[in-house]
Amino acid sequence: METRLLFQDAASFVTPLLTVFAVDVAIEKDSTPLPTLLITTDALGNAARRFLTGGEFKAALGETLLLHSPSGLKAERLLIVGLGKVKTLAPKQVRMGAGAAVRFAKTKAIRQIAIAFPEDRALSDEALEAMPCSLTTRALVEGALIADFDTDTYRSDRKDKSLETLSVLATAGESQRETDIRTGFQEGVILGSSVGFTQSLVNEPGNMLTPTELGRRAKAMCDEFGLQCEVHSTDKLKELGMGAFLGVAQGSAQPPALIVMRYEPKTPPPAEMPVFGLVGKGITFDTGGISIKPADGMEKMKYDMAGAAAMIGAMRAIAQRKPACRVISVVCSAENMPGGNAYKPGDVLKSMSGKTIEIINTDAEGRLVLADGLHYAKQLGATQLINAATLTGACVVALGTSNSGLFSNDDATCEAFLRAMERTGENFWRLPCTDDYKEFIQSQIADIRNTGVNRWGGAITAAMFLKEFVGDTPWVHLDIAGQAWVEDNRSYIGKGPSGVAVRTIVEWVNELARA
Ligand code: BES
Ligand code: MN
Ligand code: ZN
Repeated sequence: METRLLFQDAASFVTPLLTVFAVDVAIEKDSTPLPTLLITTDALGNAARRFLTGGEFKAALGETLLLHSPSGLKAERLLIVGLGKVKTLAPKQVRMGAGAAVRFAKTKAIRQIAIAFPEDRALSDEALEAMPCSLTTRALVEGALIADFDTDTYRSDRKDKSLETLSVLATAGESQRETDIRTGFQEGVILGSSVGFTQSLVNEPGNMLTPTELGRRAKAMCDEFGLQCEVHSTDKLKELGMGAFLGVAQGSAQPPALIVMRYEPKTPPPAEMPVFGLVGKGITFDTGGISIKPADGMEKMKYDMAGAAAMIGAMRAIAQRKPACRVISVVCSAENMPGGNAYKPGDVLKSMSGKTIEIINTDAEGRLVLADGLHYAKQLGATQLINAATLTGACVVALGTSNSGLFSNDDATCEAFLRAMERTGENFWRLPCTDDYKEFIQSQIADIRNTGVNRWGGAITAAMFLKEFVGDTPWVHLDIAGQAWVEDNRSYIGKGPSGVAVRTIVEWVNELARA
């Protein structure tokens, strides 16, 4: 897709589809709320006026109204997209609105769209403060790019429905404002396309995207964006003593892949600058192993590598945002299969850290590959750890699908992550992993066991297990099981892979590298 930012009047812009946003706002105190367009040109207002006063369009979030041959405009069609109540207006709404516009265009096979940057005339000072130009522009571009993703990769009748051009139209003005819009636009392109890259990996079926293939794709991405990348397999895992990771991998005919990506800033960072370690769970298919999963819904376990894909996508964005810090990413990829050589309940595995693990359930495999991945990231020099994983069904039971689980062993690190989240509009909710829960992973025969003694607090037990391998290093664990794949049709992410966590991870690295 070609993306462009133009400081140009929307009314005179030639395009098959021009999108403008509208909010639900009370114009005067006691009047009925009327939808109000977020634009400054009168021509646009005139073209749409009678439809806005007629009551057929309420400017609810994601609501669309299409006008053909709008009078006074050069556009063939005018699409008005609601952003909801002005009181709750934030970049999040703009992200959803831009996504709704793109999804609308795709259903009509319109492949070139223009979106008018939401202008301030109708907004109160309070609303403006919540909508800094750079974040609003960023959100707009992200929403459009993320919504552009199509899941029908292997359909014989597939037609390319992806957008050809996205033009963002803003009115020229004060130079600081223009600079902010340009910055936001660039960030939006980087983040939106990197989320798209993650979505395309997560969408792949297990037979196409094996651990080896994931390694190839990561390597190709790294070559394109100037990152160092090494992909190792069984021999290296043995050499490093990654017994937990190897245990999971041994039941499959597909060899595992240990993917190590590195970003180095141009100028060597000062010694006190943290070195980030991004660790991802890359189970390309999770059958459960010998503790096999029920058949119903098992096909979904192709997305059990979404944590790995998030880290690879984050590295793709980091390579372009170029923060002033070192970033290392370790992705542990394997297939969890019940083969003749598979690991079994009761087995004891020796992890790279030296800790021994009693296997109770071979379906709790994610924490095993991450245990070795986290330890290895530390050994490579990481001083700030983060991991992402579709780790537990229990986390979905606890939080549903609107929040992912967030766990941390360090309040300051956690708060920094939550601040980054405020800016990206993703949803993570902190759950505890204090030592009160430690007894649940005690084993008689080994140092720890890989599942809790009962089923309560399953997301926490998994986090407690990981915590054993991070030691004193500040660490954030994201359990994205409930958000990596969207089941309902939300306005800007279609049914399918969401690319969750990429944007907040990149934002967090950037923020900490600036501090
Ligand atoms: N990959 C699953 C978790 C999962 C569940 C991801 C639903 C996405 C959607 C993980 O490997 C798993 O099987 N976890 C078990 C742990 C249990 C055996 C302690 C679970 O959640 O049931
Ligand atoms: Mn599993
Ligand atoms: Zn799994």
